Amino acid sequence: MLLLLLLFEGLCCPGENTAAPQALQSYRLAAEEPLAFRMLQTSSFANHSWAHSEGSGWLGDLQTHGWDTVLGTIRFLKPWSHGNFSQQELKNLQSLLQLYFHGFIRIVQAYAGHFQFEYPFEIQISAGCRMNAPQIFLNVAYQGLDFLSLQGISWEPSPGAGIQAQNVCKELNHYLDFKEILQSLLGHTCPRFLAGLMEAGESELKRKVKPEAWLSRGPSTRPGRLLLVCHVSGFYPKSVWVMWMRGEQEQRGTQRGDVLPNADETWYLQATLDVATGEAAGLSCRVKHSSLEGHDLIIHWGGYSIFLILIYLTVIVTLVTLVVLDLWFKKQSSNKNISHLPSPVFPMGANSQDTKNSRHQFCLAQGLWIKNRLLEKWKTRINQLW
Ligand SMILES: *[C@@H]1O[C@H](CO)[C@@H](O)[C@H](O)[C@H]1NC(C)=O
Ligand SMILES: *[C@@H]1O[C@H](CO)[C@@H](O)[C@H](O)[C@H]1NC(C)=O
Repeated sequence: MLLLLLLFEGLCCPGENTAAPQALQSYRLAAEEPLAFRMLQTSSFANHSWAHSEGSGWLGDLQTHGWDTVLGTIRFLKPWSHGNFSQQELKNLQSLLQLYFHGFIRIVQAYAGHFQFEYPFEIQISAGCRMNAPQIFLNVAYQGLDFLSLQGISWEPSPGAGIQAQNVCKELNHYLDFKEILQSLLGHTCPRFLAGLMEAGESELKRKVKPEAWLSRGPSTRPGRLLLVCHVSGFYPKSVWVMWMRGEQEQRGTQRGDVLPNADETWYLQATLDVATGEAAGLSCRVKHSSLEGHDLIIHWGGYSIFLILIYLTVIVTLVTLVVLDLWFKKQSSNKNISHLPSPVFPMGANSQDTKNSRHQFCLAQGLWIKNRLLEKWKTRINQLW
């Protein structure tokens, strides 16, 4: 604990600067939501002797830091991940984190029985700071559910977390030094680091990438229904507005999925609409995003009407062809009857009535074959277009 305090002294004291820096304020005007720097920790406890922790640092939705559990070092994921902290400050921070990760596991294992934590269990912690009030936050989850948080100067159980969380908070609240360290780290060191980070990473934070959008059909929920899917991908920053529209009218049935990360630090979102098959025509998907500067992206659902037109066309062409073919074959066979020319496929000795019947069947078969071939070709064409 003493070591922790000493390390900490070195971290929080240089130039206690409480005023928000200039660069920060100018960024805040442009930002869609106030940026926070948060450290995430996930610790898994398999049994009383085996545990593993992972840690990472995030500026808003960008991961800026990782924690190498083997080496016990901070991984700087961006060229600007150092912010404006000196090497010495970062080294102190790293030592503090090493102590923390080690100590955390030891303490939890020691107290697991006392607080009736049942193996295997998982503890997640999200702690950090933002530039506006409430400035600091520290939330703890146990088995994936809110468990407790640091509220001002005391640890509070989360609503619904039960007696277990109350007991842990009661215990934690006895450790005043620990609370002071946390408050200083989160309330002084963290905002300073956040400010430096925002300044250093300004160009990347301000970057805007336009979304692409495309439409597809989802699995239909019931017969006679269509699930229209609007995919929006590759945009940055994360905040986006997507809606299915009929003209200027927003379709309230639009279901928005979660905004998911792409591998290239852009985002993906899909919005679906379940409609009756006949009502899809005339719908469009509309996307608003800061990168589009007011020129909304609009994609019309055209697939269904083109499909219908193609079907109508195919049916008409097929019918016309069949009529023409039928007429042609009839004409051919009557010509041949008149000329009494024996067909090479029929035996010479067959009487004329037989020949006529067979020839008629032959013509029918040929007609069917041609019809099937044509239909097949059209089907492939339609599939290609579709
Ligand atoms: C503890 O859990 C680890 C990882 O699941 C396993 O390899 C190990 O054998 C377990 N030890 C005991 C004592 O159960
Ligand atoms: C880093 O930048 C922040 C904000 O601009 C400033 O408050 C701080 O004094 C700077 N230097 C250090 C070493 O933190």
